[in-house]
Amino acid sequence: MKLNQIAIVLPINNKFRRKLLHHLKRSLSFLFLSQILCIPAFAQSPFTPADRDRADTLLKQMTTDEKIGQLNQLFYLTLPVGGAKPRDPVIYQDLVRQGKIGSFLFLTDAKEINRLQKIAMTEQRLHIPILFGFDVIHGFDTEFPVPLATAASWDPALAEEAQRLASEEAIHAGIRWSFAPMVDIARDPRWGRISEGAGEDPYLGAAMARAQVRGFQGTPQNPRPFLATMKHFAGYGAAEGGRDYDASYISEEQLQNVYLPPFRAGVQAGAATVMSAYMDLNNVPASANPHLLQDILRKQFDFKGFVVSDAFAVASLVTQGFAKDREDAALRSFSATLNMDMGSETYVENLKALLDKGQFASAQLDDLVRPILEAKYHLGLFENPYADATDQTHAEMLAKHRRAARTAAARSAVLLRNESGLLPLSKATKRIAVIGPLADAKADMLGPWSLTAKPEDTVTIFEGLRAKFTNSQVEYAPGVQISKKHPSSFDGFLTPDLPKPWSPEESDAQMKRALQLAENSDVVILALGELTGMVFEYGSRSSLDMPGREQELLERIYATGKPVVLLLVTTRPLDLSWASEHVPAILDCYYGGTEAGNAVADLLSGDVVPGGKLPITWPRSVGQVPIYYAHTASHKPYDSEKFTSRYWDLATSPLYPFGYGLSYSTFTISDLRLSEKAISLDGSITATVTVTNTGSKTADEVVQLYLHQRYGSASRPVRELKGFRRITLQPGEKQQVAFTIGREERNYWSAAKNDWVLEPSEFDVWVGNNSTATLHDAFSVSK
Ligand code: BGC
Repeated sequence: MKLNQIAIVLPINNKFRRKLLHHLKRSLSFLFLSQILCIPAFAQSPFTPADRDRADTLLKQMTTDEKIGQLNQLFYLTLPVGGAKPRDPVIYQDLVRQGKIGSFLFLTDAKEINRLQKIAMTEQRLHIPILFGFDVIHGFDTEFPVPLATAASWDPALAEEAQRLASEEAIHAGIRWSFAPMVDIARDPRWGRISEGAGEDPYLGAAMARAQVRGFQGTPQNPRPFLATMKHFAGYGAAEGGRDYDASYISEEQLQNVYLPPFRAGVQAGAATVMSAYMDLNNVPASANPHLLQDILRKQFDFKGFVVSDAFAVASLVTQGFAKDREDAALRSFSATLNMDMGSETYVENLKALLDKGQFASAQLDDLVRPILEAKYHLGLFENPYADATDQTHAEMLAKHRRAARTAAARSAVLLRNESGLLPLSKATKRIAVIGPLADAKADMLGPWSLTAKPEDTVTIFEGLRAKFTNSQVEYAPGVQISKKHPSSFDGFLTPDLPKPWSPEESDAQMKRALQLAENSDVVILALGELTGMVFEYGSRSSLDMPGREQELLERIYATGKPVVLLLVTTRPLDLSWASEHVPAILDCYYGGTEAGNAVADLLSGDVVPGGKLPITWPRSVGQVPIYYAHTASHKPYDSEKFTSRYWDLATSPLYPFGYGLSYSTFTISDLRLSEKAISLDGSITATVTVTNTGSKTADEVVQLYLHQRYGSASRPVRELKGFRRITLQPGEKQQVAFTIGREERNYWSAAKNDWVLEPSEFDVWVGNNSTATLHDAFSVSK
């Protein structure tokens, strides 16, 4: 029976009928998707039936121009950037008055936001509020660690809380929509934007996506007045050669099993908006790709929110050799159901004429406008359109957020090496040399997309150490200066100003000074890595070497014989082949945000014990890229005796595996028990382990469960993460940790069946503290 037939025979009014239909459709689509396709479905609608009724009522009063205006998002810029036209604020206000703008981005000044909003609410015919959006990626006034670092915490609750706090700050300024979370899976660290996502793994990525959506938007029971954006839909992280914006070629199998799970999880958590990516996916640009936007997003995921293009992506369809001209570009994106044109103004320019020419029906226009209006009702913008710029509690709020940011940065760092227990440092250490171009670099602590936080509010590593080690003599020297070979148009605009390059004489003098400082110290804290602009959008690199003379500085400081603690400030897994054999202690700090320096001091002093784990596989050198743990086995696996799939000049294994990270304590994970050894297709089992803190410090361990299907209609990865838990244990304390392995953990999209499958097979289970875990058991699944 068709859904419409069910409803037609019911003697109920139209409004009720629509609600019932909506409910039935969702329930049946859940049954269909979960029972037949074996994937967890039931997208959480981001809006309520009341939002929809109000949007429908408003739509009936709107002219075609007013509707098209809602699909137009403009950059509010008074300076040129990345091809956007800067305009006089008077022009913006006229456009608002005429109802030609649905949303602005890049305006963060509460006063100007309120001024424009007042024009919309009082002078525009239908008083439709403007939705102000911004890249609130990992903070606003207070920066939290960059998203890759937050993923390294393996603590979704932390990611949720960080985004909740960031949105509180943004709301205070009048922003109600963030272009985050970025949930692109990335397996090529040459791609600078790896910093904005959760790394290489779909399971960890999905957990972080869900958490961030909840952080921004709350839950349906407890909604927050803020919208999240899942971006960049989809496959942006697979850019060829790691070159930002370059095309991606992704099989349907990879798309469904690897690149889409975080998007699917975010949509299920109720994400209100999705941003379409720039690049060509299998030669069809993502911003006009019907397979992505219709088949997958609207149909498979049952997404009910709206899609915004990436910046100027609609007009770029012409440059990409896809659309004939701007009019064709507008039509192609519109027809693919892309709701909002970010920045390129092709919709306002062309949609009216296209409608008049009969290129699409007016109902299609309504369908694209409706969710934007629903979002505005949902946010309460019609009732409360203004930012409360007079709020007296703002300073208190920021102080609270700083404390949270410090905890987040400390929980995100990953200890890669700690020979002979060099760390933690004794607080009685007499002379501490703090060296390196990133040791006292305020803006570079913040990381990419820290566009509103003030560098002067940031605590550098040098400052953090000085404040912590009050009885020590703590001194600083930069040693070397680093810079990009090809600066980008973001440098100095979206990233810190580039410093004046040192002359060759000055470079030598600075190197000498740093070496002298090292000689006169008891321990050297060396902060090396990359500048913010090196890992940003448009921040791709061909190499993973330490930039400039950093490696030379490292080796020369090591040669002084002083104990060296290497702190990595970047999100790129730099080539540590030499360092990993020589430098006794290595701590990956990422870009820790506003409180980065204090967090590093907490960790180095032992006040906090590191507990982060790598969210990406660490290659030995760039030649291994792409390298990730969830690869399939060849007919000659890596451990075969001959004809092995490997390089003749380098080990095939990574330098550090996915999920790896040390602690100042030690743990054992033992007694793996499966509740059953044989189950049916529908069944599920529980895997239980005992985790014991065998060291002398209260510390965290991240327990990870990996699964492998031995045979089936398609080859499966040698292992895949299917569960994790970060726990805290006192010295000597034991805890049992249990994981469920059910349908959801076993289903996958089979290239052979061109569909989701759940198959009889044998399965390996490993539990441990990284992706090379050896504690093993197996179970079988029959029909
Ligand atoms: C980026 C997006 C971002 C947008 C707006 C684009 O260049 O790719 O991630 O949200 O700009 O700032």
